[in-house]
Amino acid sequence: MLTDAAEYQRKIKRVILSEEEIQAKIAESAKAMSEEYEGKPLLLVSILNGAYVFMADYCRALSIPAEISFMVAKSYYGTQSTGTVTITKDIEQDISQYHVVILEDIVDTGRTLSLVVEKLKERNPLSLKVVTLLDKPDRRLVDYQPDEALFTIPDLFVIGYGLDYNEAFRNLPFIGEYNVE
Ligand code: IMP
Ligand code: MG
Repeated sequence: MLTDAAEYQRKIKRVILSEEEIQAKIAESAKAMSEEYEGKPLLLVSILNGAYVFMADYCRALSIPAEISFMVAKSYYGTQSTGTVTITKDIEQDISQYHVVILEDIVDTGRTLSLVVEKLKERNPLSLKVVTLLDKPDRRLVDYQPDEALFTIPDLFVIGYGLDYNEAFRNLPFIGEYNVE
């Protein structure tokens, strides 16, 4: 458990995306989403814990009504590229009544999200789309592309704005690079 403030600061190598850059992109994306889903039943879904900050900011940038819901999912992969996902906390809504937008923090290997998408599609939502704050395409291990990525970043381990290293740094207001040294 990280408790030392000096060590905490030392581990933040540099700012990758400032609060202002993040908020500007969210405003732009949410404006387009508000137009696209106007008059439609919209459900925003996030996978905990990483996407909680993104969800909080994104839902408040919309100008249309939206319901929100959270899931907790654990994915397991064997030696093949196929995997299974266990949902340990599920959403309560019957998604066949909603247009569903998954708000994700980061798509890395793509494993978690590809399985969650597959699982939600089986419940026949009116439509299903994935918006991710960050995309790290260099790290992809499964054939999966989000519908929209607010930022595409190189293969760095990033922290802040909901993203953690060993459960720390989620409360940073910006996205930073983790100092591995
Ligand atoms: P996946 O590899 O695409 O299945 O990503 C699974 C999860 O790994 C993401 O939802 C994040 O919680 C975590 N993750 C991937 N890359 C990073 C990173 O750079 N920083 C912090 N968490 C990450
Ligand atoms: Mg994580």
